[in-house]
Formats: sequence, C-alpha cells, structure tokens
Amino acid sequence: MNEKNSIILKAEKLAKSFHSGSACVNVLHDASLCVRAGRSLSIRGESGCGKTTLLNLLSRIESADSGQLFWQGREVDKIRSSRLARERGRFMGMVFQAYYLVPELDSLGNVLLAARVAGIKPDRARAESLLERVGLKERMSASPLTLSGGERQRVAVARALMNKPQLMLADEPTGNLDEKSGSVVMDMLMAVCAEEGASLVLVTHNRAFAARTGEQFVMHDGHLFAE
Ligand SMILES: Nc1ncnc2c1ncn2[C@@H]1O[C@H](COP(=O)(O)OP(=O)(O)OP(=O)(O)O)[C@@H](O)[C@H]1O
Ligand SMILES: [Mg+2]
Repeated sequence: MNEKNSIILKAEKLAKSFHSGSACVNVLHDASLCVRAGRSLSIRGESGCGKTTLLNLLSRIESADSGQLFWQGREVDKIRSSRLARERGRFMGMVFQAYYLVPELDSLGNVLLAARVAGIKPDRARAESLLERVGLKERMSASPLTLSGGERQRVAVARALMNKPQLMLADEPTGNLDEKSGSVVMDMLMAVCAEEGASLVLVTHNRAFAARTGEQFVMHDGHLFAE
C-alpha cells in the first residue's frame, strides 16, 4: 500500500506527434503530471486537444516520442515489453469512453477478464461484489449487448477496479450518457475509488464533474495547464 500523498505516477515532458503521409501533427508538447496516492485530478479541454493521447501515454498503450514516465517510481521504459500488459493490469484500471466490453462474455465475465489479462487468479467473489457495488447485482449474467449505456459504463468501472488498482484512468466515462445516468456513473466512480483508495485521473468535458476532483487541469493545443 502506498503512503498517502506519495507519487504513484510521474510523467515528465511527454511529447507525441503523429505522422500521416508527409503531414506531421504535434499533439502533445512537454506534458508533465504527477498523480499522488488516493488523490484525484481532472483534465478538460476541447475535442482534439490531446486528452486521450495523453492517457494512452500514461498507460503506455502508446509510447511517447520523448520524455519519461514512472509508475510507482519505476521507469516504464525499463519494463520488458513481455511484462508490460501484466504490470499495467496490476497497477491501473482503465475506463474508456466507448466501454470496450467483450460482447461474447456476460457482465461477470467482462469483470473477470481484467484479472486474466494481468495474470491474476480470477476472484469471482470480488467480481460479484464489485458488480453489486455498482448496482448491477441482477445483471451479472447479462450480455453487454442487452445493457443500457449507463449499465455498460458501470460494468466498465467494475472491470477497471477488479485488480485493486492504485490508479484509475477514466476517459470521458460519462461522455455517451444522458445527464442523469452520467451523474449516477460519476457518483459511483468517485465513491468506489475513494473506498478502494485508488487515485483517479478523469478526462471530462463536464465542469461540474471536474470540480469534484482535487486538482484540475485544462489542456490546450497539447499543453497542460493547472487551473
Ligand atoms: N493514431 C493517430 N494517428 C494520427 N492522428 C491521431 C492519432 N490519434 C490521435 N490523433 C490526432 O491527435 C489529436 C488529438 O487526439 P485525441 O484523441 O488525443 O484528442 P481528445 O482531446 O481526446 O479529443 P476528444 O475530446 O474528441 O476525445 C487529434 O487531432 C487527432 O486527430
Ligand atoms: Mg478523447
């Protein structure tokens, strides 16, 4: 367990550009960020400013062109690529805007999948209790195809928490939801992260949700500004 306030993720001057044909788009310029144990922060910014790109760099789903990234003090570049998915799966949980649930698996199977990816013995009781915690006790054996958007996103929150992550990265987790379901998912996400002691990095367009986090950042043209 991390000491309260200790830095669990540190990003230093991450830069990223994308090339297509002869065009080159510099998406991120020197983005630096620290996430502390048990704390939450939010990132707002207009569409296309680089928020998802930044989360993809923090989770090392994509690698930066330059800069350094540390997970729990360890330089992520030094983690062997064969170990990366496991290390990521044990350290962080991710909630994507588009849910990314597996339609062939039921809700419970989707939550248990997080453990398999991280090479952890699936703990069925924990998966069930998380689904119960997000209000889906009655929908454990439902296919994601039969769930509403808000329900899918709540399965995604349960899945992200499965391995007791120290860090939750959530990319517009309420972006596809109406105001009421969005509030339900947001309340759930903040409450469960607090209960589980997970830090939260929240990307959102919603100012009211952003204001509920401990630190607020705004991204503009690939630059990150503290508010
Ligand atoms: N794989 C890629 N190849 C080329 N360009 C990309 C790629 N991924 C992202 N981009 C470009 O990088 C910029 C930032 O994209 P990103 O998805 O990070 O924005 P965002 O802030 O998350 O936007 P939104 O709020 O709409 O989700 C955009 O101009 C996008 O077109
Ligand atoms: Mg995005």
